Parts: sequence; structure tokens; C-alpha cells
Amino acid sequence: AAATAKWYDRRDSVFIEFCVGDTKDLKVRFEQSSINFSCLGGPEKAKHQNVLDLYGDIDHKESKHRRTDRSVLCCLKKAVAGRSWPRLSKDKGKVTWLSVDFNNWKDWDEDSDEDLSSFDKFSEMMNTMGGDGLPDMEGGDEEHGVAGSGDGKMPDPE
Ligand SMILES: *[C@@H]1O[C@H](CO)[C@@H](O)[C@H](O)[C@H]1NC(C)=O
Repeated sequence: AAATAKWYDRRDSVFIEFCVGDTKDLKVRFEQSSINFSCLGGPEKAKHQNVLDLYGDIDHKESKHRRTDRSVLCCLKKAVAGRSWPRLSKDKGKVTWLSVDFNNWKDWDEDSDEDLSSFDKFSEMMNTMGGDGLPDMEGGDEEHGVAGSGDGKMPDPE
């Protein structure tokens, strides 16, 4: 079965979080315009596999993933930075296992370079992050409450 996943768009990268915990035999393969995620995970160590043709090309050599106890976060570096992705998948149809991560979503300004370094921030985060969820990457309050619930932060672990 496919793992559920959430994604969001940034100026120079696209983030996908696969919401499956305690993963084993994790394989994340990035190609030029697709991603292949597979693992055993969850309480039953069930097999999960997600293959997706991506909306745009990525720099697969610079794309990374980071496993935590609760999920697997992937950072896909866009081949062309500064162009927003209206959706993650190549095809227009809805991908059943995928949803938008409204807590992290933000409409970045195509003309501002404020987000230029989100990929670098991610790399930094990869090195400093524990197994306990994500730090608030933007360091500020979200102004638009798109999700309609919560305060825009990740829920407390446990
Ligand atoms: C995805 O990866 C799995 C496991 O590594 C492999 O068996 C499968 O053939 C791959 N699928 C595609 C479409 O590349």
C-alpha cells in the first residue's frame, strides 16, 4: 500500500513528508522527474511503496531524505528554482495518498529571494534535527490560517 504523504512548495525545493513511522528497509530513489519511495513501516511493518511522476524536473543528485521515528521527510531540489509548482504530480488527477501540508504551505513571492536558502536550511536541519519532528523553518508566525486549525506548528510529539 502507499504511505500517506504531505507536500509543500518552496522557491528552490519541494518537500514531501511520508507519514510512516518506524521505517525499515527504507529506499528513496530520486530520478529526474519521479520519486520512488519504499519501506517497511508502521506498527505492522507493512510494506509501503509510493511511485510518483513529478510535476517538474528535480536535481536528483541534490535531493535528500531524512528519516525520523515518525516519518520520512524528503527535500527535492528543483531543477529550476523560482518557479512554483501548483501541484506535485505530473498528472492533473488527484493522488489519493497525497495532500498539501497546510501547516507549512506559504505563497512565496516569485520576485523575492527571501526563500532562496530554504534548501540550505533544510541541509542544516538534516544535520541538527533529532528524531522529534521539525523545527519551525520560517521562525515566524503564519499570517494566513489556511489550515483553519491549530497554530501553524507541528503537533507535539507524544
Ligand atoms: C521502485 O523501487 C522498488 C524497490 O526498490 C522496485 O522494486 C520498483 O521496481 C521501483 N519502481 C519503479 C517504478 O521504479
